[in-house]
Amino acid sequence: MKVMGIETSCDETGVAVVENGTGILSNVVASQVDFHRPYYGVVPEIASRKHTEAIALVVQDALDLSGLGKEDLDGIGVTYRPGLVGSLLVGLCFAKALAYGLGIPCVGVDHIEAHLYAAHIGRKIPFPYIGLLVSGGHTLVTVVRDFFDYDVVGTTIDDACGEAFDKVAKFYDLGFPGGAAVDALAAKGDAHAFDFPMPSLRKGNHAYDVSYSGLKTAVVNQLKQFQRPGKEATPENIAASFQRRAIDMIVKRALAASADFGIPLIVVGGGVAANSYLRARLKGETGVEAVFPEMALCTVNGAMIAGLGYHGLRAGHVSGLDLNAEPRVPAFRKTYP
Ligand code: KG4
Repeated sequence: MKVMGIETSCDETGVAVVENGTGILSNVVASQVDFHRPYYGVVPEIASRKHTEAIALVVQDALDLSGLGKEDLDGIGVTYRPGLVGSLLVGLCFAKALAYGLGIPCVGVDHIEAHLYAAHIGRKIPFPYIGLLVSGGHTLVTVVRDFFDYDVVGTTIDDACGEAFDKVAKFYDLGFPGGAAVDALAAKGDAHAFDFPMPSLRKGNHAYDVSYSGLKTAVVNQLKQFQRPGKEATPENIAASFQRRAIDMIVKRALAASADFGIPLIVVGGGVAANSYLRARLKGETGVEAVFPEMALCTVNGAMIAGLGYHGLRAGHVSGLDLNAEPRVPAFRKTYP
């Protein structure tokens, strides 16, 4: 079964053709990063306009590279949530129109579920596992029993992990996108030059939650207070010390969930899954196995949408033409009594 995946939830137009959920025939990503760089963040209005310009070309490119014609497609998966609503609508309208014109089914795919699916591409992963989703907009610890059957057991109570990387990078002018820039600088820095605080959220309902606002404030506003004697405040040292704390926080929560639920397999997804310290840190843990997506599949792409779309279609999930964009998913934010 050949499924096209269309992804336009933020600032990348991603289209892929994937066979049977895991064989990538093509995977094209048109990045808008140069248009957003001057603002150090994604400007929603620019993002949706650029998707409109790119979508038809990227779809054609993905078809050409796959060696297929559009009549060879068996279905279309499209991101419908969560994301920037103007951006989501571009991919959604295009996908619904294309599926309608071709007379094939279209299924709405959740971008966050798809990030966790990315590690499944190219390998077989058994259920259950602890799904650790770390992206620019979300930070989730989940217990995953099947592709569409999971519980969110932990989340961020303020900023997302990737967002903290981006904000620190913006404040110190380290580069854009921030996560990759901090990662590269950190490789040349001393991760113990600063002893930044680690939030303690172990109580009750917060057992697997994280919080980044305190760490961000410490790095941005209270640098001197956390500087160790004899250590220099170089960009490399700030990046390495921040990264250690930011990543250790999610690793701690994922390991706690793994131990408490008795599930020794951790599957990571989302842009921060590309982080070299996170990869090394989890792979170095004994007693748990960590699985990461290929580097190219950590950040936004159409292949993970096509892959999960295939499983949705096989399970009989078909969306109607009334499928709408949903900017937020309430289940990804925990509610507290
Ligand atoms: O998953 P993604 O591409 O988009 C969302 O769905 O949000 O994630 C983008 C996020 C950004 O915050 C970016 O700074 C972060 O992933 N990121 C990284 C790295 N590469 C991308 N964070 C830390 N280390 C990296 N190497």
